[in-house]
Amino acid sequence: MKKLEVVGIEKSFGSLHTLKEVSIELKDNEFVSILGPSGSGKSSLFNIISGLSIPDAGSVFIEEQDFTGKTGRVSYMQQKDLLLPWKTILDNVSIPLLLKGIGKKEARKRAAGYFSSFGLGGFEESYPSQLSGGMRQRAALLRTYLFSNDIMLLDEPFGGLDAITRRKMQQWLLQVLESLQASILFITHDIDEAIFLSDKIYVFSERPATVKRIFEVELPRPRNNSTLTCEAFTRIKEEILSLL
Ligand SMILES: Nc1ncnc2c1ncn2[C@@H]1O[C@H](COP(=O)(O)OP(=O)(O)O)[C@@H](O)[C@H]1O
Ligand SMILES: [Mg+2]
Repeated sequence: MKKLEVVGIEKSFGSLHTLKEVSIELKDNEFVSILGPSGSGKSSLFNIISGLSIPDAGSVFIEEQDFTGKTGRVSYMQQKDLLLPWKTILDNVSIPLLLKGIGKKEARKRAAGYFSSFGLGGFEESYPSQLSGGMRQRAALLRTYLFSNDIMLLDEPFGGLDAITRRKMQQWLLQVLESLQASILFITHDIDEAIFLSDKIYVFSERPATVKRIFEVELPRPRNNSTLTCEAFTRIKEEILSLL
C-alpha cells in the first residue's frame, strides 16, 4: 500500500525557485532516502510534507487522503531537533505522548518501555548534556517515533556525528526498525548512508530541486559491514557519483 505520496510539488520563496515538479512515493514499511546537494530544497520539501508549509502547487497524500497543509499526521525530526536541556531524557521523550493527551504518569511509563531498545536504558533521569552525541540522537529519534509510530520524516538525523558514531547509528537504526515497523523518508547528503539504509533513493538536482533519478537498492537485509564493500553496493555508488 502507498503510505505517502507527494505529487507535483512546486515551491518558491520570492524569486528563489526551490522545488520543481517533485513527486515521491513511500510504501508501507519502506525506507526511502532523498539524496541531494545542500541548499537544493530537501528540508523545504519535508516542511511541506509535514504540513508546516504550503506548496505553490502539488499535493501530499497520506494513505490516499489529501493532507496538503495539514499537520499532526507524520513524525518529523527536523534538521536541528534539539532536546530541551532543562528536562530529563524521559521527560523529553514523553512530550509527544503528552501532546496526544495521555496523562503524565502513563506517558512516562510508555516512553520508558522503549528505552532499552533505543540504547538508553539507565539514562531515564539524566539530562541531555550528560549524554553522548549518539545517545542524544537516539533520544531524539525515540521522541520522533512516539509522535506517530508509522510514518517518520528524518532530516539528516546523523549529520552532526563523527564518522564512527554515525556508522554505528546507521546499523542500530536498521536493527531497531526490524522490530518497529515504520515507513521512513530520510534526508541525507551522504551517498554511502543512503545506499546502506534504503530500499529506494531519490537523487535530487541542484536548486530548483527536481528528481533526477530513482534508484532501487536491491541489497539483501539484514545489512552489515560486508554490505558496504560488496560489488552491488559499489556499482550503485558509482552510478550515483556519475550523476552528481
Ligand atoms: N522560509 C524560507 N524563506 C526563504 N527562503 C527559504 C526558506 N526556507 C528555505 N529557503 C531557501 O530555500 C533553499 C532551500 O533550502 P532547504 O530546503 O533548507 O535546502 P536543503 O535542506 O536541501 O539544504 C535555500 O536557498 C534556503 O535559503
Ligand atoms: Mg536541509
